[in-house]
Amino acid sequence: MAANLKRLGAAAVALLTLMAAGGAMAEDPPGMPPMPPMGGASMPAMGGGSAWPDSGGRMSFKEDVLPMLKNRCQECHVTGGDGERQSGLNLDGYDGLMRGTKFGPVVVPGNAMVSNLVVLVEGRAGIRMPHNRRPLSKCEVQMLRDWINQGALNN
Ligand code: HEC
Repeated sequence: MAANLKRLGAAAVALLTLMAAGGAMAEDPPGMPPMPPMGGASMPAMGGGSAWPDSGGRMSFKEDVLPMLKNRCQECHVTGGDGERQSGLNLDGYDGLMRGTKFGPVVVPGNAMVSNLVVLVEGRAGIRMPHNRRPLSKCEVQMLRDWINQGALNN
């Protein structure tokens, strides 16, 4: 009985954490994400109803995501780097990115809106990545959103 209660407690905490994360994200940005221009252009229906529209291009981890991580994140997020030591996030490749931080995953395949990676590079959480560096460009952020909404594949 006591063990059961303890297990329930853990589940409730996990649920609350999830809800808290969801809540924090729902309150900001205030409106909806910017809508893509409507022109009847073929919008691939990807991401299973994720909140961020897909801009259409097919993203590749190796060609699009990895070079950006290399340029903008690996300075601190490789074994022994500041970011890696403090957060546990190692961005030297696909496996490290998908493993996430010591607190858990930062990529939720198919849902860029709730992926902490996107939350952080957008500065939605109060801290912004990259730390003390020029923010990512709109294109880079959209590329990440698309890649995640397309399933965050190792492609
Ligand atoms: C100049 C160093 C530096 C660079 C460049 C940098 N980071 Fe970080 N990052 C850190 C440090 C230090 C931490 C741990 C402290 C913190 O969370 O603020 C961290 C933490 C994180 C976290 C975990 C935050 C949390 O609270 O769970 C994520 C996710 C992250 N970085 C993503 C990125 C991404 C993506 C890039 C590249 C676009 C990047 N970082 C570039 C230093 C850096």
